Amino acid sequence: MKGNDKIVALTAYDFQTASILDMSDIDLVLVGDSVGNVILGYENTLPVTIEDMVHHTKAVSRGIKRALLVSDMPFKSFQVSTEKTIDNACRLLSAGAQAVKIEGGIEIADRIKRLVELGIPVMGHIGLTPQSINQLGTYSMQGKDEVKADKLLKDAKAVEDAGAFSIVLECIEHKLTSEITKNLKIPTIGIGSGKDCDGQILVINDLLGLTVSQVPKFVNPILNLRGIIEESLKKYVKGVKGE
Ligand code: KIV
Repeated sequence: MKGNDKIVALTAYDFQTASILDMSDIDLVLVGDSVGNVILGYENTLPVTIEDMVHHTKAVSRGIKRALLVSDMPFKSFQVSTEKTIDNACRLLSAGAQAVKIEGGIEIADRIKRLVELGIPVMGHIGLTPQSINQLGTYSMQGKDEVKADKLLKDAKAVEDAGAFSIVLECIEHKLTSEITKNLKIPTIGIGSGKDCDGQILVINDLLGLTVSQVPKFVNPILNLRGIIEESLKKYVKGVKGE
């Protein structure tokens, strides 16, 4: 689709939402490790386990018939060894994913290469990589100075050269995003990185206005679903109580 049509991607964590996305012309559904914050109520994605991802991938895969289903490799599932990385990626594919997504650049290129050699499609993810929050310090824009921008350009190329079929660019300075997108043959999927990517992804709960905490600045919710549900439930309570 690169150069022809924008790729539209969203996250999903359960069967019902997945089936709605599948019927709504969404090209790519990601079972993100954002399941940690969004569904499981953790402060960040670090406590999410491979078992959590397998569980949610199975549920989502039952709702997907058309879209491409990608599942996130959670923290600790690919950092330890290549063997463990292969085993965990296989678990996600056995659960129904068609590809896995891995956070990181040059430093994990060898892991990406090995997975691709074994027939496991890989999506990269660079820029603001939430699993590295303890190193990054904040969830802020990435690639602001020249050294960091240069590292991100090299990361993107390393991920492509390792055989990834696509790459997520999260919260990267917009000019730099545009440069990375032009430099790569594989499609870039942006989140908070401006409009010059080959596609866009968001966390579905942020887009629908369901998120409990504050949504990231770059999200324009299309609905206030939380408000609608709250109002409706108040009516239900009144109805049951006979008020
Ligand atoms: O976990 C996630 O939801 C992601 C995104 C790119 C939205 O990695």
